[in-house]
Amino acid sequence: MPTIEELATFCKKKGFVYPSSEIYGGLAGFFDYGHLGVELKNNIKKLWWKHHVQNREDIVGIDGSIICSPKVWKASGHIDCFEDILVECKKCKSRFRGDVLIEDSLKIVADGISKTEIDKLIQDNKIACPKCKSELSNANDFNLMFSTFIGPKQSEENKAYLRPETAQIIFTDFKLIAEHARLKLPFGIAQIGKSFRNEISPRNFLFRCREFEQMEIEYFIKPGEDKCPFIQEVENTKINLIPSEKKEEIVTVKAALKNKIIKNEWHAYWLATEYNFLINLGVKAEHLRARQHGKDELAHYSSDCWDLEYKFPFGWKELQGIADRGNYDLTQHSKTSGKDLSLFDEASKSKVLANVVAEPSLGLDRLFLLLMCESFENDEKRGNVVLHLDKKIVPIQIAIFPLINKLNDKGRELFDMLKDEFVCFYDKSGSVGRRYARQDEIGTPYCITVDFEEGVTIRDRETTKQERVDLKDLKNKLRELLF
Ligand code: GAP
Repeated sequence: MPTIEELATFCKKKGFVYPSSEIYGGLAGFFDYGHLGVELKNNIKKLWWKHHVQNREDIVGIDGSIICSPKVWKASGHIDCFEDILVECKKCKSRFRGDVLIEDSLKIVADGISKTEIDKLIQDNKIACPKCKSELSNANDFNLMFSTFIGPKQSEENKAYLRPETAQIIFTDFKLIAEHARLKLPFGIAQIGKSFRNEISPRNFLFRCREFEQMEIEYFIKPGEDKCPFIQEVENTKINLIPSEKKEEIVTVKAALKNKIIKNEWHAYWLATEYNFLINLGVKAEHLRARQHGKDELAHYSSDCWDLEYKFPFGWKELQGIADRGNYDLTQHSKTSGKDLSLFDEASKSKVLANVVAEPSLGLDRLFLLLMCESFENDEKRGNVVLHLDKKIVPIQIAIFPLINKLNDKGRELFDMLKDEFVCFYDKSGSVGRRYARQDEIGTPYCITVDFEEGVTIRDRETTKQERVDLKDLKNKLRELLF
């Protein structure tokens, strides 16, 4: 696996990701996706949406606004509780995220560590400011919300926030969506969109940014109806589980439920469904694990949470959180807005306030980073990088090369014949070997070479083998290979 620095350099060189505002020295925690990055990112989003929304009868999607009434964030608890722990240098005033400072200084895992523990570790280990070596302050809370003003007057009553998660818009629109989409519990509402957090220490390239995208689902059930009708689809899935109070084990979902490692069927179902989504994208099982949050680590709204973690080049880190939010959010919004957010239940002829039994929340930029880490290989035999991206998400599906300039017209005809059905790229410059290498580096699974013979050759990224195909069979062959 490449280091994170190697990957960032590679992504920039190939047009996947650039530091934002680079000509002005960049802006920490902000990135721009280049001409290939945007294709890969869009393909991941499309695949996620197809799998989680369009292929399911029980989930619908929305696209909410980034700025909404500040009352939303008061009710959700984000204004009062959405905080990270900050430590400040008493002299140079540099600010550090407490857990990151501890991890960097002591080389230990510090996820979910408390303020008291941070203060004690700083004192016991005489940790000083990494920049000027002066004394550090006690740990304090720091709110991560980005604020702005609505309209021309910059006053407290016009203050608003950029959303730090997409989830709240699902809760505020819950009643409208449930009624208009005629949803009956259990059901889910999904959303893909930008979120913003004023992270104290943005770092590790796309892993922790200040502007990022989330792909989230709120899955609602009738309180007490904990049996998941889909559990059989996933019960043989084997996952490396790290429960908060038990030993690490690789077990099937069935065994995890039987042994009460995971308590709720729905929670187990969503953990396995999300795990399988990654496995189907080619992620290796040994690079994934699921870790349960300890009590101190749980977010203010959550009663249980499992993180799917990936073995990034900088260690095991959260890719996706799957939290049980209960009825925290709907209760808060009902109370604060005065609107009844319960649904009428035909079976009991009464109103019920739905429970969010699982909230699979996946960072798109983090998944992008993971897929780059997982697929990057510096192939010494070929003398170039090969990106073994899954065919479902590659930026370019087919590259078309005329062997020499004289074959340009034949090459162009082929491009026109294929472009409506496949994402094609036409390249006539450089040796064919160099052209193959350029496509390997960006993950293109098939290159078609046009020569003077009958038909064309298709070259496979994984094996480098070439196969001659008749023009009349070409489209079918490509469909077979790609879909
Ligand atoms: N609605 C629940 C929620 O937002 P979270 O664990 O704070 O939960 C969910 O975030 C996911 O969003 C994370 O697992 C991660 O993939 C992504 N994420 C969170 N903060 C991020 C950041 N600063 N940069 C990139 N991705 C981030």
